[in-house]
Amino acid sequence: MYIFVHEDFEPIFNAVSASVVVVQRPKDTMKPSKTSKQWMREHVNDPFVQLAQKEGYRSRAAYKLLEIDTKDHLLKPGTVVVDLGATPGGWSQVAAARVGRGGKVVALDLLPLDPLSGVDFIQGDFREDAVLKQLEDFLQGKPVGLVISDMAPNMSGVASADQARAMHLAELAMEFALLHLKPDGSFLVKVFQGAGFEDFLKLMRSRFAKVASRKPKASRDRSSEVYLLGSGKLE
Ligand SMILES: C[S@@+](CC[C@H](N)C(=O)[O-])C[C@H]1O[C@@H](n2cnc3c(N)ncnc32)[C@H](O)[C@@H]1O
Repeated sequence: MYIFVHEDFEPIFNAVSASVVVVQRPKDTMKPSKTSKQWMREHVNDPFVQLAQKEGYRSRAAYKLLEIDTKDHLLKPGTVVVDLGATPGGWSQVAAARVGRGGKVVALDLLPLDPLSGVDFIQGDFREDAVLKQLEDFLQGKPVGLVISDMAPNMSGVASADQARAMHLAELAMEFALLHLKPDGSFLVKVFQGAGFEDFLKLMRSRFAKVASRKPKASRDRSSEVYLLGSGKLE
């Protein structure tokens, strides 16, 4: 089994099922690549990985959303949430638990997602019109309270191309959020500081009444990732 991993895709590995791990990072923003052994050693010693294993979360990323939501109160009972780039499912687990049975979580990813209670899943590439249409059909015009995007492209190792792909995903996620969010809904998106970041921030500020930046503790200092939170969609 081959699993391609980069800094920001951090499933809780079952080391037995993963025979090959490839670690890739954008060159200009992060430390040089490590061997898979080094990565695995750091991964298993990571306190958030250990906590996730203990508390039953599928990824350490769950703690990023938990921290942001504890501060910003995005996931209220009854909220309809769209989770873009959801696999392995940490954010969806957090969202489903917090919105409860009266809410709804629709998750989407290129990769399969093991079923999760309270989460509907669409597998596909968010950049494709047919997949977007599937997601829209699924929502049946229900106004969305929260769009969360933790999407990150597979890193090619060519920093400029990787950054451009990451920004493109963030832009598409914002377009979707602007179309489907309720007026008082919120949009949380992962972006990487680098080329295009300032323009994206400007764009978000022109479309949302309030834009805040979040760097939760589970987001490693050395990672250029930052989460932007837009609320109060402007018409
Ligand atoms: C950092 S992981 C998400 C982790 C997740 N938030 C969690 O808590 O478990 C990023 C995900 O984005 C997905 N992704 C990247 N490009 C995508 C695309 N074009 N369409 C859908 N998903 C995409 C990847 O497959 C990957 O699963």
